[in-house]
Amino acid sequence: MPLHIAIIMDGNGRWAKRRKLPRIAGHTKGIESVRTIVTECRRLGIKHLTLYAFSHENFSRPEEEVAALMELLTQYLRIEEQEMIDNQIRLSAFGDISLLPDETRQALEDVKKATMSQEGMRLNLALNYGGRQEILTAAKSIAIDYASGSIQLESLSEADFSSRLYSYDQPDPDLLIRTSGELRVSNFLLWQIAYTELYITDVLWPDFREKELQDAIAAYQSRTRKFGRVVE
Ligand code: FPP
Repeated sequence: MPLHIAIIMDGNGRWAKRRKLPRIAGHTKGIESVRTIVTECRRLGIKHLTLYAFSHENFSRPEEEVAALMELLTQYLRIEEQEMIDNQIRLSAFGDISLLPDETRQALEDVKKATMSQEGMRLNLALNYGGRQEILTAAKSIAIDYASGSIQLESLSEADFSSRLYSYDQPDPDLLIRTSGELRVSNFLLWQIAYTELYITDVLWPDFREKELQDAIAAYQSRTRKFGRVVE
């Protein structure tokens, strides 16, 4: 079993367009997939699940779509809080949440606090997240510590760098799933996916449910992970 699964949840807009529905109907349906996949990952014993819910760049979408996504996210958090506690799920946020609307940020803070001692599974929501921004922030913090004399560059390791990322206390993803067929990583977890296995499916996110997750895990289990080495 992969220890950590990360997912780029793409295709909500296309799902809605095919049905001649507004884009937001796709996001609403996408939330059902989020619930299903969180529950299924917990049932399968996955220890870390990271969902790309809103990228740094998504803020440049039309204002109504951004507002509707934030509203959906806030509702999701309020409704799921007890469910997360009951299922020993600990919530974290990856990204600069200071720019999210007050209600969304408050809901996140409340659920993070309410679930902070849960140990069954880590659920990380990437919100206003960008991989390059995350790496740049880490680099700046190193520059500050170097300038103040608190670190030596010669001894700075990859682990030291990792410890300055949102994922500081979690392993790198073993499996990255992207729905709806695009062959790119879209600024997601750039540092962390160095040796992650990629799985891309044409299934749109609102249609991605238990069976599709199990297929992705089976594909992962058939791979040989080499981490740059020769495997006989
Ligand atoms: C990509 O589809 C999806 C998003 C930008 C948002 C993902 C959000 C959700 C699934 C709902 C909220 C999340 C949580 C965790 C409660 P797209 O709009 O880019 O689709 P398209 O490429 O087909 O237009």
